[in-house]
Amino acid sequence: MLESIPFMKTSKNQKKFACPVSVKDLILPCFVIEGTRRKEPIRSMPGISRFTVDLLSKEISQARRLGIRSVILFGVCSRRHRNETGEYAYSPNSIVARAVAAIKDIFSDVCVMTDICLCAYMSHGHCGIVKKGSRHIDVKATLEALSKMAVTHARAGADWVAPSAMTHRQVRTLRRALDRYGFKKTKILGYSAKFASNFYGPFRDAADSAPQFGDRSGYQLHYADSKQALREIADDIQEGAAMVMVKPALSYLDILKEARLKHPFPLAAYNVSGEYAMVKQGAKAGFWDEKKMVFEILSSIKRAGADKIITYHAKDAAGWLKA
Ligand code: PBG
Repeated sequence: MLESIPFMKTSKNQKKFACPVSVKDLILPCFVIEGTRRKEPIRSMPGISRFTVDLLSKEISQARRLGIRSVILFGVCSRRHRNETGEYAYSPNSIVARAVAAIKDIFSDVCVMTDICLCAYMSHGHCGIVKKGSRHIDVKATLEALSKMAVTHARAGADWVAPSAMTHRQVRTLRRALDRYGFKKTKILGYSAKFASNFYGPFRDAADSAPQFGDRSGYQLHYADSKQALREIADDIQEGAAMVMVKPALSYLDILKEARLKHPFPLAAYNVSGEYAMVKQGAKAGFWDEKKMVFEILSSIKRAGADKIITYHAKDAAGWLKA
């Protein structure tokens, strides 16, 4: 029997359980808006803002100084550029294409990923093109638009494209389109196991992309459906993804772990907006210590098997890791 138990870990023990997360694992999500010299704080995501292309480089420069080397860009399209076909998503002048070019121009060592989805470019907010007079996504038309979007971003210099529209065969279609246009080196991050989640609320506020009718349960996974999630991961690997993802992270650590055990393949997790907002609100209310909470969360995602973590905590975590 132990005679006494320390009330705190000794420093030796603490070393044994050093934080498994490194700054190289973190991917910073950035929201890009039209115009110049504007930074708009996002109400539902304290500490996160939308940036015009010119100010985004400042944000990325700060992140880079903290050691972050990967970002994923989300375009927030103004209402006047939205319609029912989403052409602006693949315009060479779109905010994301311009942002990619600007970032790669200034920071050649920063890996730039882009989100490939139509929701922020559609008047109705769905992730694909809706068949006229129906409640269905037109798969062929949607895949065509997503392919054009991926090629446009690759042409602007994106290192990775990340299709998140949950359209059937999107990874295969994008891989073929990229190869056909000579972008064999542009990699695909599949949002493979993307659940229809309540945790996306703050993101939809940030990107103004909430669907105007229906929800996304027709094309995103049900939270109870682990079998389908694992099938989607296997499919994306087959279809040519260079990394697969589970999203959200925290309520889906079991899926992440299963994917890790099944596939010796690069694996990412998306620590989404709602997960971030909860931590921030709780810290603001004095319920917990934000830094300790963030380390516990990021460590759990790593422990479950993620190689990379997309997280809004990236800058804070990088700063704390450095300190
Ligand atoms: C686009 C997209 C969404 C998120 C990432 N890409 C929203 C959605 O599917 O509704 C959510 C990310 C987050 O909540 O942080 N389809």
